[in-house]
Amino acid sequence: MGNLKRMTNKFKQNICCIGAGYVGGPTMSVIALNCPHLRVDVVDIDEERIKEWNNNDISQLPIFEPGLANIVGKCRGINLFFSNKVEECIREADIIFISVNTPTKKSGIGAGFASDLKWIESSARQIAKFAKAHTVIVEKSTLPVKTAETIKTILDSSEQNDEVNIKNNKTFSIVSNPEFLAEGTAVNDLQNPDRVLIGGDDDNAIKLITNIYKNWIDPTKIITTNLWSAELSKLVSNAFLAQRISSINSITALCESTGANINEVAEAIGTDSRIGRKFLKSGPGFGGSCFKKDILNLVYLCNFYGLYEVANYWEQVVKVNLWQQKRISTLIIRQLFGTLANKKLAIFGFSFKANTNDTRESPSINISKNLLQEGAKLNFYDPKVKEGQILNEFDETTNRENCVVSETPLKAAEGCDAIIVLTEWEEFKVLDWENIYKVMRKPAWVFDSRIFIDKEVLKKIGFQVWTLGTV
Ligand SMILES: NC(=O)c1ccc[n+]([C@@H]2O[C@H](COP(=O)([O-])OP(=O)(O)OC[C@H]3O[C@@H](n4cnc5c(N)ncnc54)[C@H](O)[C@@H]3O)[C@@H](O)[C@H]2O)c1
Repeated sequence: MGNLKRMTNKFKQNICCIGAGYVGGPTMSVIALNCPHLRVDVVDIDEERIKEWNNNDISQLPIFEPGLANIVGKCRGINLFFSNKVEECIREADIIFISVNTPTKKSGIGAGFASDLKWIESSARQIAKFAKAHTVIVEKSTLPVKTAETIKTILDSSEQNDEVNIKNNKTFSIVSNPEFLAEGTAVNDLQNPDRVLIGGDDDNAIKLITNIYKNWIDPTKIITTNLWSAELSKLVSNAFLAQRISSINSITALCESTGANINEVAEAIGTDSRIGRKFLKSGPGFGGSCFKKDILNLVYLCNFYGLYEVANYWEQVVKVNLWQQKRISTLIIRQLFGTLANKKLAIFGFSFKANTNDTRESPSINISKNLLQEGAKLNFYDPKVKEGQILNEFDETTNRENCVVSETPLKAAEGCDAIIVLTEWEEFKVLDWENIYKVMRKPAWVFDSRIFIDKEVLKKIGFQVWTLGTV
């Protein structure tokens, strides 16, 4: 990055985004693309990640999303910059998006449910220290309701404590602008969102952020609310989406017991316009960094306010998700004669869904661990997830020594008793299944947890086939 001050002159405003992750990277790239008059600096403490964002080979960005490399290629070095210069960029910013991670707390009060806000707090402290004049802070991370209050307390205390700050007229406005993008379709979701939600109580700050989005989004799609409604809406939105997945997944088991077919049931209910077709695709359970953590956060909030029935209701969505993964694992073991000792299985797909390299909370992780526990040797193949990222999910307690990663599906299938399809990558539909069959031990199984490979074609080749939600 060149000298920031000199370069800022030609831009109307400076945006700094703290956090160059799955949200910060794509979101800021799309803002930069649509707002050439704005300078967008994406900063991160993770040096490796920033190095990857600045990779000359645009196909090697740290995050894979269809269309993203193209946008970064167009804007990087022009009005979009990735760096570790957190302090410098905060200092020069008119608007700061906080897009840092907010995982579930691992220990202490609320462990296993509440969000760990230590990255939010440290961002707020950095902003309090380095920001100048009036700065609008935008909560992009998904946060528990009332987090804006915590951020404000940190920012205000810096104003009161620091004489230089008072002299500099350092002031802040906070706006909540939760992100609704889905990984795998992030660029399209950002370019054509169903809505943009902006919550806050400072009209000028809301107008400032609205004006950014108005550069490419129809103003009627921009919803403004109070701060707390915006924060809560994001949690509730994810809870509703995840609930649909758990609901349809719960019915897969019933289909398998009764002879109904889950895709037919989903089609039959989805054509009811009150229900709708989306998010009725059954599978091995939802993954990704958000659904589970956001629901658990909602559960924590409900319990905190004494709303125990509401908390139990939503927690069930997460429990059904885990149950589905366990159920599929058990089913595979049963079909393979009740034991996986000395058996080799190929795992096709490790990302939590197609078109992303994100593996956080991927159902593949839990299902693989269950199979490893039964003594299986696993050979993984995923078109976008790197070997290290897969192997890092396992250690000696989960039999990492029994895991291998292959570069092609054919290699992964060699000598295997079964292929477990866990991610719906399009390429799995058009594999050379005949050749794959030849290199496997017989009887050769395909377990299709995504219900998207032609069962009849596989059967004709000679495979034993199990497809989720069908008999
Ligand atoms: N991933 C999604 O699909 C998605 C969608 C909507 C909302 N969200 C929410 O957005 C937030 C970010 O998610 P993500 O998936 O991008 O996370 P991520 O882990 O991919 O990225 C977060 C980045 O923030 C950086 N960071 C943390 N503290 C920092 C600090 N003090 N200064 C500079 N950098 C710092 C980390 O190094 C990391 O690179 C979360 O709250 C998440 O719930 C995620």
